[in-house]
Amino acid sequence: MPVNSVFSPSSPQAAAIGHLSWIVFWVSVAIFSLVTAVVLLAVIRFRNDSPGEPVQVFGSRWMEVTWTVGPIAIVAALFGLTITTMQAADPPVHGHPPDLVVVGHQWWWEVRYPAAHVVTANEVHIPVGRRLLVRLDSGDVIHNFWVPPLGPKRDMVPGRPSDIWIEADRAGVYLGACGEYCGTEHAWMRLRVVAEPEAAFQAWQRAQAQVPAQPTTGVAAQGARVFQQRTCASCHAISGTEGQARVAPDLTHVGSRSTLAEVVANTPENLRAWLANPDAIKPGSNMPNLQLTDPELRALVAYLEGLK
Ligand code: CUA
Repeated sequence: MPVNSVFSPSSPQAAAIGHLSWIVFWVSVAIFSLVTAVVLLAVIRFRNDSPGEPVQVFGSRWMEVTWTVGPIAIVAALFGLTITTMQAADPPVHGHPPDLVVVGHQWWWEVRYPAAHVVTANEVHIPVGRRLLVRLDSGDVIHNFWVPPLGPKRDMVPGRPSDIWIEADRAGVYLGACGEYCGTEHAWMRLRVVAEPEAAFQAWQRAQAQVPAQPTTGVAAQGARVFQQRTCASCHAISGTEGQARVAPDLTHVGSRSTLAEVVANTPENLRAWLANPDAIKPGSNMPNLQLTDPELRALVAYLEGLK
């Protein structure tokens, strides 16, 4: 699925940016057309068939005033519009606590909702029509948070958190991407924002805050053991287990996500392929190939897909 276009804004912030972009575009078109027309006119109308000194215009006051005042007026008008657009696209925070925290990692997004004690990855859920403050940070290199239909793009600088408002006018799935080259998998550092009605958002948040029941019997229980024994737990956290590492995406509710690593749909077949050889799906990924055996793969898939 391609990342959504900046030309289909779905929030007041993105609409303000889109509006200004169109004004700048049409002003540029007008200037380009005017200059082209004057050049063509000069070429055709004043073609010099009989070489000689042309008419001199040095010291023409009205010409000098025109070409000085005109550009100043255009730049000043665009400057004023830019200021109002910045206020609309990036309103002041006034000490508002962040509603969610997004941390960029090579090459995935850690997503936390501090008040609800929810931790997830790559998939952000927001309620329709309500502005949320997002705290942006990075765990390694400079990334860039960008969901074009929902607002401005912003660098995520390690050790220098910043805040950005995110909002959606309509329910839907909005795809964003990392906007700053950050290594091998930069192009696949995709982000998914699911905007849903308030009640659905609250239900999602409640479900994500639950500690999932750990399987005690069957192949899924074997999977839970494989997860601990084959060192998956050294990087991935799952609530309700001993694994609380934060090196890689939290997998507490991995079965409820729509994609794996934002590259392939979250199906048992794809999960199996991913676990068998992560590099085949996301080359350069920091997830190692653990050389899992067929029974181990089967058990892990059953366990992880059951974590809804
Ligand atoms: Cu992260 Cu590019």
